[in-house]
Order: sequence, then structure tokens, then C-alpha cells
Amino acid sequence: MSIPAVVAHGGAGAGPERLANVERAVAIAAAILESGGTAVEAAVEACVVLEDDPVFNAGTGSVFRTDGTVHLDASIQVSDGRMGFVIAMEDTPNPIRVAADLLDEEINGLTGEGARAWADSKGFAKAPVEGRPPFKEATDTVGVIARDRSGSIACATSTGGCSDRPPGRVGDVPLPGCGFWVQGGVGVGATGIGEAITRGMLSFRVAERILDGGGLEESMMWALEECLEDGAEVGMIALGSEGTGHGLANSENMPWSSWIARK
Ligand code: GLY
Repeated sequence: MSIPAVVAHGGAGAGPERLANVERAVAIAAAILESGGTAVEAAVEACVVLEDDPVFNAGTGSVFRTDGTVHLDASIQVSDGRMGFVIAMEDTPNPIRVAADLLDEEINGLTGEGARAWADSKGFAKAPVEGRPPFKEATDTVGVIARDRSGSIACATSTGGCSDRPPGRVGDVPLPGCGFWVQGGVGVGATGIGEAITRGMLSFRVAERILDGGGLEESMMWALEECLEDGAEVGMIALGSEGTGHGLANSENMPWSSWIARK
């Protein structure tokens, strides 16, 4: 038996003033885990709370691409090896639900019109996502990692994508090992400039370091200092097979929160 836990962030650049919004999502995940729900359920439902909150660059509050369109990416991975991701979805307020629907499918990921056609065939909500102009120079993304009583870990991530990016651009969030990675009882999620995160394969490398004996914070600190070649604003969260989850960013601008059940 494991002790349930969750850690979540509202994105590098979202600002510390949005901490209460992240705490609301963590509380939803905690309630699900306390009542015996799975890590997948907790991570997805907390991610939906963040996608529905217009202050975050994900779901409803996603920032415009350079042509004014809104393209959404989301991903989820589970410690049993299952994975689902969607890229550049339009008219989908909760892309994390579509990504999660792929967990038990033969395919891992879908993009664009194909992703939306899949969502239509499964009855996932189709509605215009209004989006908004970027409110700050930096990017943001939302992410949740949950651990349930069975020890299963799930990492859910969702974004409207970095500011000032063209339609069709692919960021780190739907790329395995980059914006997310779950392996051997360790989950890691990243946020920030997706190109830098992808070039550094940040989530995979942090998970590997933790599995090699590194601490959560130490491993994230190493990645932020050693694996980013251009000083891009980036943040991370991580959760292991025991103990509390942690968040770390190379600025003060990433709101994050964690919870662990009493024994
Ligand atoms: N980290 C989100 C993005 O670059 O799209």
C-alpha cells in the first residue's frame, strides 16, 4: 500500500498570485484519492479544474497562436506504461480528457483534425475555446502528478502552448520524455519554453536521475542548471513512489502545491 499524494503547478510564468487556483485543483485530486480513486482519475480531474480556470494557459484560458487561433496540447502517462497525448486540438475545452481516452488504445497520440474526429466519435465536448492574448511574456502550462493507494502514478499535462508560436508548432507537452515522463515509480512534468525543454529532454532526464538515487529537488535543480542551454524560463514538478511531491522553477513565477494523505 502506498500513501496517496499529489503535486500540481499552474505554469512557469503564471505568477505566485495564482497559488490559490492551483490549491483548488490539488484539493480536488486529494478528495478523489482519499475516497479510493485512482491516480489517473485524480490527475485528470485536477487537470480539468486547471483547464477550466481562465487564468491558466491551458483549456479555456489558452493563449492565441500568432494567427489568432487556439491550439491545445495535452498528455497523460501512467506508471504501468500507458500513455496518451493530443496535439494542436481546436474546439476542445478539455483536451486532457481526450488524451486520457487513449490510455487503453493501441495508439498513443492524435493530432489536429484527427484528434477532434476521435473526440467527436467518443462524445467529448466540442465548443469554441475563446482563448486570449498572452498576459505575460513567459509561457505557462498546467500539470498534475498523482499517486494512489496502489502505488500507481499518473502525470497529466495540458497547455495552449508558448506565447508567440505559429499554428502547427509542437511544444514539449505532448512529447514523451520532454514535457512529461513516468517511469519506475517516478513521475515528472515540465513547464516553460517548450523548445528548451524538448532539446534538454528534461522530464526523462530528471526521472532517470531520481531513479539513480537523486532527490526530487536536487534532480530538478540539476536539470534546470545543467540541461537548459539558453536560460529559458522553465519549471518542473516531480513525485516519487513515497513521500511528498515537489516543484521547482528557475524563477519565482511558477505556482505549485502538493498534498499527501495522513497514514
Ligand atoms: N511548455 C508549453 C509549450 O512550450 O508549449
